Amino acid sequence: MAVPTTTSPTPEPVPGGGAGPATPGAPLLEVRDLRVRFTGRDRAVTAVDEVSFTVSPGQNVGLVGESGSGKSVTSMAVMGLLPRRGVEVSGQILFDGEDLLLADRKRLDRLRGREVAMVFQDPMTSLNPVVPVGTQIGEVLQRHFGMRRKERRERAAELLAKVGIPDPRRRLDDHPHQLSGGMRQRVLIAIALACEPRLLIADEPTTALDVTIQAQVLDVLAELVDEAGAALLLITHDLGVVAGVCDEVNVMYAGRIVEQAPRRPLFRSPAHPYTGGLLASIPRLDTPRGRPLTPIPGSPTQTVPWTDACAFSPRCAHADDTCRTTSPRLEHADGRGLRCFHPLTTPAALTKEL
Ligand SMILES: Nc1ncnc2c1ncn2[C@@H]1O[C@H](COP(=O)(O)OP(=O)(O)OP(=O)(O)O)[C@@H](O)[C@H]1O
Ligand code: SF4
Ligand SMILES: [Mg+2]
Repeated sequence: MAVPTTTSPTPEPVPGGGAGPATPGAPLLEVRDLRVRFTGRDRAVTAVDEVSFTVSPGQNVGLVGESGSGKSVTSMAVMGLLPRRGVEVSGQILFDGEDLLLADRKRLDRLRGREVAMVFQDPMTSLNPVVPVGTQIGEVLQRHFGMRRKERRERAAELLAKVGIPDPRRRLDDHPHQLSGGMRQRVLIAIALACEPRLLIADEPTTALDVTIQAQVLDVLAELVDEAGAALLLITHDLGVVAGVCDEVNVMYAGRIVEQAPRRPLFRSPAHPYTGGLLASIPRLDTPRGRPLTPIPGSPTQTVPWTDACAFSPRCAHADDTCRTTSPRLEHADGRGLRCFHPLTTPAALTKEL
């Protein structure tokens, strides 16, 4: 999608900007064996376990799974936003080599917004309803770059133009309720990118929007992340959303990664029955008219603990006694990871690219 430009002067590059190089060849983010366990009064819940993945500089990585699979808990752990009490976290979250699980609050505050920024699902709860959007963008610019008022307005207008908001100077003084849902989400993207982060985490950034607006906002997000040389961790329940945006995909089920692969191989030949199920339930342009989409049977709540079985076995058409009595490990081969005893052989219908 074409992104309008403004005639406003481009601000001077800011020294120490967020998109600086990581150690050459090293991942920007490396999550190693992450485990998050909520220890509530009544019942402990292991929300995330054995989760490992990387995001390299400039790479777009997807984290996909149904509701409750642990996507947001993983992103909250990366952002250091999990509650301090009633939660046990183990593993490593290395950002440019630094373990964020060992970082103190002050260090995390510095990293958040500056090096790692986040776009949440619901712009109405993320934006302050009583503050004009230009001021909200300006606050980020003041905090991170110490910009003066006039400079902030110029830059905020430029950012609004970049995310495709028409007449950006006039919109600076609008309050969130004066904008459409799609525009509010664009404002959130502008705020997240204002500090030139090296990593942007977007958690269901388009779920609250109409389908047509979803595609536009995703295009803007991907284009701007790419233009900024930043990396993107895109969290969604919709495999179709990652299809157009991500280089690498991690599929999560009941708190664990069940399949990880580069996008093309994953879409051409999904190996995990759950990935195959997600793919079969996406509407596709080449689906013959009249052929119904195939939802995954059952619901994500129909699960068994990973400790002594495959958690997907109650819903899996390929499950046998081994699956019901043994926990599958994530095995790696040919640049892909798979947690399954009986991988899919690719049906012809799935070999075409999305
Ligand atoms: N503060 C909490 N206390 C207890 N359990 C929690 C807490 N936060 C999340 N959980 C549990 O952790 C699991 C994973 O939740 P998470 O929010 O990461 O799911 P999700 O994949 O983001 O789902 P959705 O698509 O609905 O956003 C769920 O079972 C959830 O109930
Ligand atoms: S391990 Fe068994 S139950 Fe689990 S996804 Fe693979 S085939 Fe299905
Ligand atoms: Mg979530």
